[in-house]
Amino acid sequence: MNIKKKLRSVLPASWIRSLSILRNPCLLHKTYGQRLAPFLRVSAGAHASDVDTLKARLRMYAHILEKGIRRRDFEPGHGSAIHSQAITCLARLACNDDESVRWARAIVAEYEVLQRGAPTHKFSPPHASPLTAEQSLAFLQSRSSCRDLSDAPVPEDAFLQMAEAAQQAATSCNRQTLRMFCASGNEAALGLLGCFKGFTGFGRGVQAGIVFAVDLRPYDFPRELFVPAVDSSLGVQNAVMQAHAIGLSVTLLSWGNSTPADEEKLRRLAGIPDYCLILVGAVVGFPLSNPEKPARMPARDILRIIRSGK
Ligand SMILES: Cc1cc2nc3c(=O)[nH]c(=O)nc-3n(C[C@H](O)[C@H](O)[C@H](O)COP(=O)(O)O)c2cc1C
Repeated sequence: MNIKKKLRSVLPASWIRSLSILRNPCLLHKTYGQRLAPFLRVSAGAHASDVDTLKARLRMYAHILEKGIRRRDFEPGHGSAIHSQAITCLARLACNDDESVRWARAIVAEYEVLQRGAPTHKFSPPHASPLTAEQSLAFLQSRSSCRDLSDAPVPEDAFLQMAEAAQQAATSCNRQTLRMFCASGNEAALGLLGCFKGFTGFGRGVQAGIVFAVDLRPYDFPRELFVPAVDSSLGVQNAVMQAHAIGLSVTLLSWGNSTPADEEKLRRLAGIPDYCLILVGAVVGFPLSNPEKPARMPARDILRIIRSGK
């Protein structure tokens, strides 16, 4: 038994946590390796020709071209390298179409027309939010994680609405890499959520669960190591708020305490491919009561404003 395991078997857990020496990466290189495994797998390049990788890269190239042609000081003659990469993706995708591919194809066509000196884009006036600032904040403040859930079935349409809301979130270079693996019904939900150590205190009547994951294929590592987590978390928040609007409560579950055995089981149960990074789980259900929302530290305390001329 190695020294780490020996110390762990004799010392109380709290001591282990405070003995930061035991968190030294040299001692934990295996655990770091396990956490980085999905990134390393994708970096090997095995998925570069996958249809979804090509689609995400095409969205990225079209996004870059669009930024160029939407500039008020637009001039032809820029972006040719990106244009040829977009063309290559389009050729390799052939008829693998969806709305985002059709959008990208239209941007590429517009870029080509503008290179020949055609009139530039007409700017439409900004549109106002349907919610007032007060309504928006009240909506956000009214959400909380409820672990007191009814055993009423969760309609599968709720997953689609949550996915629709998630797709409205911003993603870096418009890559759209969030993936949702949903369990519908008590048995499937308990099976999936049972892989999360934090799935405690919810009772056995849970009717729905989700695993949020992110497709790592269209990113460049290690340069973009943390970008997938940002891209997908924005979508997760939208999905949680849409569920709230439907009348459902979503409690997220950390994946931070998972073991390789948990990972293997969850990927098998939910059919999560190895190029997806598992991010967070979610318990979904109709709340039976309204839990008190844990107090927030004052917003001013998370804020620092850098003023001009200061
Ligand atoms: C990434 C993440 C992981 C979480 N993991 C768990 C968990 O494992 N079990 C749990 O009961 N709640 C979990 N939560 C819910 C938090 O405990 C909860 O969001 C926090 O206490 C704030 O309460 P509120 O959501 O009601 O505002 C998690 C939340 C996040 C964002």
